[in-house]
Amino acid sequence: MSFSYRAPKVASLDIRQPKVENHLSRIDIKCNVSVDTEVKVAMQKVIDKYGTVDVLYNVAGITDRSMRVGETTNEGFTNIMGIEFNGPFYMVRAVIPHFLAKPESADLKGSIFNVCSVAAVRGGCNGASYTSAKHALLGLSRNTSGGSCKGRDQMQCCPSRSCDN
Ligand SMILES: NC(=O)c1ccc[n+]([C@@H]2O[C@H](COP(=O)([O-])OP(=O)(O)OC[C@H]3O[C@@H](n4cnc5c(N)ncnc54)[C@H](O)[C@@H]3O)[C@@H](O)[C@H]2O)c1
Repeated sequence: MSFSYRAPKVASLDIRQPKVENHLSRIDIKCNVSVDTEVKVAMQKVIDKYGTVDVLYNVAGITDRSMRVGETTNEGFTNIMGIEFNGPFYMVRAVIPHFLAKPESADLKGSIFNVCSVAAVRGGCNGASYTSAKHALLGLSRNTSGGSCKGRDQMQCCPSRSCDN
């Protein structure tokens, strides 16, 4: 996705250590999105740098290697749910107060993109944990786009590979 026509200021949160942490219009913040306290600290860094947030793009993800439910360990399940669902939940919760703090006159208080998957709407394309997490993420997207936050605009997108079922 390109926002370049508006010369955006970007904050990238990723569990991997960034090579360079600060540029004029971009900050890279090391953050495990599945840990709420890390999300809060990262969000504060973003607010300190830019003052507000206009667009949240929840894209962090990992695969569950198509593990069936019976093959899935507790650790694997918790890890997938943490990154694919809890992380976006924490991020959405952290960003909404900054959308709401914008003046009533603001045309658009903010947009949230939750990257889902065909596994958000179908059952047999991936493993049990991933499919559960993406279904949950689509549910969160639908719930929070239902007018709970006036003036905010939210949508979800579902990139996918082909799937027959
Ligand atoms: N690749 C596909 O075919 C495909 C299909 C459907 C949906 N998706 C979804 O699209 C999104 C991106 O997929 P991709 O293939 O581009 O992945 P990718 O591996 O290229 O990028 C994912 C990024 O998430 C980061 N990340 C992983 N765990 C993290 C954590 N705990 N905290 C913060 N950052 C973390 C990784 O470091 C990486 O930079 C994911 O949500 C994935 O589920 C991908």
